[in-house]
Amino acid sequence: MQTDAIEQIKDKIDIVELVRQYVPNLKRAGKLYKACCPFHHEKTPSFTCSSEKGLYYCFGCQEGGNIFNFVMKMENLSFREALEKLADMAGVELEPAKLLTAEEQRRATARKLLDFARSYYHKNLLSRAGEGARTYVKSRNLTKETCEQFELGLSPNAGVLVEAAQKAGYTQDNLKDAGLCVQTERGLREYFRNRLMFPIWNQRGETVGFGGRILGEGEPKYLNSPETILFNKSHVLYGLNFAGPVIRKADRAVLLEGYMDVIGCHQAGVAYTVAPLGTSFGEDHAKLLKRYTQNVIVLFDPDEAGLKAALRAALILTEAGLFVKVASLPDGLDPDEYIAQYGKESFEDILNHAQDLMAFAAQRQLALHPAPLSAQAKTQMVTELTQIIAKQPDAIVRREWVKYVAEMLNVDEPLVQQRLTQTLRTATPSARFSPARKPGIIRADQATNVPSAEEDLLAWILKNPQYTVLCSQLSAQDFSSPALWEIFQAIVKTHMQYPQADNLIEQTAQALPTQKNEIVKLALLPTPDDFDPARDIAACAAKLEQAGLQRQLQKLTQQMKSYGTGNVPPDVFQTYMQLQQKLKKYRG
Ligand code: UTP
Ligand code: MN
Repeated sequence: MQTDAIEQIKDKIDIVELVRQYVPNLKRAGKLYKACCPFHHEKTPSFTCSSEKGLYYCFGCQEGGNIFNFVMKMENLSFREALEKLADMAGVELEPAKLLTAEEQRRATARKLLDFARSYYHKNLLSRAGEGARTYVKSRNLTKETCEQFELGLSPNAGVLVEAAQKAGYTQDNLKDAGLCVQTERGLREYFRNRLMFPIWNQRGETVGFGGRILGEGEPKYLNSPETILFNKSHVLYGLNFAGPVIRKADRAVLLEGYMDVIGCHQAGVAYTVAPLGTSFGEDHAKLLKRYTQNVIVLFDPDEAGLKAALRAALILTEAGLFVKVASLPDGLDPDEYIAQYGKESFEDILNHAQDLMAFAAQRQLALHPAPLSAQAKTQMVTELTQIIAKQPDAIVRREWVKYVAEMLNVDEPLVQQRLTQTLRTATPSARFSPARKPGIIRADQATNVPSAEEDLLAWILKNPQYTVLCSQLSAQDFSSPALWEIFQAIVKTHMQYPQADNLIEQTAQALPTQKNEIVKLALLPTPDDFDPARDIAACAAKLEQAGLQRQLQKLTQQMKSYGTGNVPPDVFQTYMQLQQKLKKYRG
C-alpha cells in the first residue's frame, strides 16, 4: 500500500482548492463550502465540501468521498490514475505499481497490443501503401488534423500485422485476447484486412477495439472488433473520450448513428456528439451518458430505418430518466454530409429546433394515418402514444404529454389519461417508478425516518473516537436502522485497530466500503457549538437504549394481544416485566 504517500497527498492538497478547479463558484457557508453539484444537474446547491475534513458530499446524489474519489469521478479515472495525478499535483513520489494478478496482466497486455496495432495501422495509412485509402479519406471531407485526432488507420493485407506483432514479442494468445485475430479451422485469421480503421476508445481514452470500414463499396460495410476482455460494445460510445468534458459544459449531448457522423461533427466544432457502435443503443449507454448530462438530442439518418432507431434510442434514454429531443435533417443528408455542406451554425440551428420526443412521435403517427382521422385511427394512435408516455418516469412530463396528445387528436383528456392508466397497469412491472436502491445506501426518504440521534451519535464518535467507550454497550436492538448499526460496529472495530487515531472517518469508510457515502455524510454533519463529547455521547447512547427498549416493548405488546387475555405464556409476560423495569431507569 501507498499509505504514506496517500497521507502526504491528503495533507498537501486542500479539497476546497481542488474542487474549485472544477467548480469555480464554490462558496463559503459556515465551516463548509457549497455549490451546485458537478455530478448532477441542479439549480440549488446541495454539494458540500469541508477543508478541515478533506471530504465532499452531495445531498442530491447522496455520494461523497475524499480528494481521490472526487477526481476519479470527475475525470473518470481509476484509483491508480487518480493517485498518480494527485501525487503529481502535490509533488509526492509514489512507489512503483504493485504486481498484477494474472487477469490484470492479460488485460494490460491486450491493452498494450491494441496500442501497438493502433499506431501500426495509423503509420500504414500515412505510408506509401496508404495512398488509395488517403484519397478515400479526403473524398469524405476529412482533414489531416482530424485524421490525427481520431488516429485513423489502414489495416494491411493478411498476415502483415500478425508478423509485426509477433516480432514485437506478442503471442497468438495475446492477439486473440485483443480481438485482432480469431481462431478458425484453417488456423489463426486476422480480423481486419484492407479496411479504413477507426480506433475505439472508452470514455477514459483507453483503446478497447476497432471499427473497420471497407474502402469503397462492399459487404459488410463496417466490421467491429469482437467482444474481448477489454471490449464490450454496450459499454462504449464512440467519441465520448473527446466529447465527455464538452458535454458536461454544454449540458447536452447529441446521439448520432455512425463513426463518420461523429468525426464529421467534431471536425466542424460540434464536439458534444457521440454514437453507439453499430449494435443498437442500450440501457448501459443511457446510464453512461447520464453521468455527463440529462439532456440528449437524438439525430439519426433521415431514412425509415434511422427514424425507427431514433425512436427506439429515445425511449431507452427516456426510461433511464434523461430528457430527450429528436432532431431531423432535411434533404436526406447524413449528419456528416449535412455539416460538411452547410456548416456548424446551420447544424446547431437544427439541434436547437429539435422536437420534444412526444411531438416527434405524434408527428410520425400523423404521417402514418392520413387525414381526416377516423375514430379507429384515433384510438390506435392514442394506444401507440400512451405506450410512449408510460415510459416517462417524470410525472410532470407525463401529465404534459397526456395534454398534448389529447389536444392534437382532439380527444377528451380524461380518456387519454384512462388509456395511460390501463397501459401502466398491464405493463410488466419495472423498476422505473421505484428508483433502484443502491445496495447498502440509505435513501433520503428512509433517512428522514431514522431518528437523528442515531446519526448524531455516529458522527460524534467518528470524529471523537476516544469517547467510543461511552457507548460501546449498544447493541443491534438499540438502532432502528440496520445500516447505522452496521456503521456503528465498523467504528467500534476500527477504533480497536487504530486506538491512537484522532478521527476514524477514512478508516471506517475503508472498512465498510458499501456505506462510504453514508459515512462521509455523517462526518460532514455539523457539530453543535456547545458540544461536550463526554456528556453528549453518553446522553445520546442512553437515548438510543431507551428508544430500543420502547421498540421491543411495543413489539411484545402486539404479541401479547395476539395471545388474548389470560393466555399469555409466563415467559413472555416475564420479559415484558423486565423491559418495563429497565425502562423505569430512564423515566426517572
Ligand atoms: P451507416 O451505414 O449509417 O454508417 O451505419 P455511416 O457511419 O454513415 O458510414 P458511411 O457514411 O457510409 O461511411 C451507421 C453505423 O452502423 C454501424 C457502424 O457503427 C456505422 O457507423 N454499421 C453499419 C455496422 O456496424 N456494420 C455495417 O455493416 C454497417
Ligand atoms: Mn454516412
